[in-house]
Amino acid sequence: MSLNQHINIFFNDIYFDKKLNFFELWKSVFNKIYSEKNLDFNNIFTAIRINKSFYLSKYFISVNHLEGDILECGVLRGFSAFLMRSLEDKMSLNKINNYYLIDSFEGLSEINKEDIPNDKDLKIHKKGELRENMETVENIFQEYKNIYLLKGWIPEVFDHLDKNNKYKFVHLDVDLYKPTLDSLEYVYDKVVKGGVIITDDYQSPLFPGNQKAWKQYFDSKKIKSWLALPSGQAVIIKD
Ligand SMILES: C[S@@+](CC[C@H](N)C(=O)[O-])C[C@H]1O[C@@H](n2cnc3c(N)ncnc32)[C@H](O)[C@@H]1O
Repeated sequence: MSLNQHINIFFNDIYFDKKLNFFELWKSVFNKIYSEKNLDFNNIFTAIRINKSFYLSKYFISVNHLEGDILECGVLRGFSAFLMRSLEDKMSLNKINNYYLIDSFEGLSEINKEDIPNDKDLKIHKKGELRENMETVENIFQEYKNIYLLKGWIPEVFDHLDKNNKYKFVHLDVDLYKPTLDSLEYVYDKVVKGGVIITDDYQSPLFPGNQKAWKQYFDSKKIKSWLALPSGQAVIIKD
């Protein structure tokens, strides 16, 4: 039996509109971004990634009616950003979105004590890991207008954004405590009512700093209206 069939049991019947099958879209994005790789269904991270993409897509579609831009912190080679941009294309969503895609393009920043996994057997990531060349990502997005790649370290890189920008969708995927907290502090007040902030690694044992930053930020604001998703992400819809 093809391992693909297992994934189909979950996702085969999921259409975002009458024509757009979620898993077909997901595979086309994977093949575009990682054309040199084969999908490894024996690896739990494949299923986790598909699941996260599903929730990301659902929340992304949910903000379509709002005014505002898209911000992603943590781009790597552009998988999640390309998924969002493809959804916009394939579903003829609102075409005036600007996408601000931020990354050091030099990998992870400093690892702080908050980022060290509790489980001593888990790998401790190092500064500079998860590095991608900005030129590779520029090529991936070259056919698209309104994509702005910004290279730099969070939080300093935020100086390159217009502070009057308003965001309807923010995807946080920088893994670590400090840039997650800095991103929330920068962006929360700039998110429009009904807009979404979603963080990728809330439940990741490898990156415990993500959850610490998320909780610290929302505890400090006494905001409880966020949801931990079954995919391991966490999400808030701004009141
Ligand atoms: C998990 S990857 C992002 C994955 C991507 N969203 C995807 O769909 O493949 C994390 C990214 O965060 C970036 N990053 C980590 N710390 C950063 C910081 N302080 N400033 C800017 N970028 C950072 C890394 O360079 C890396 O590309």
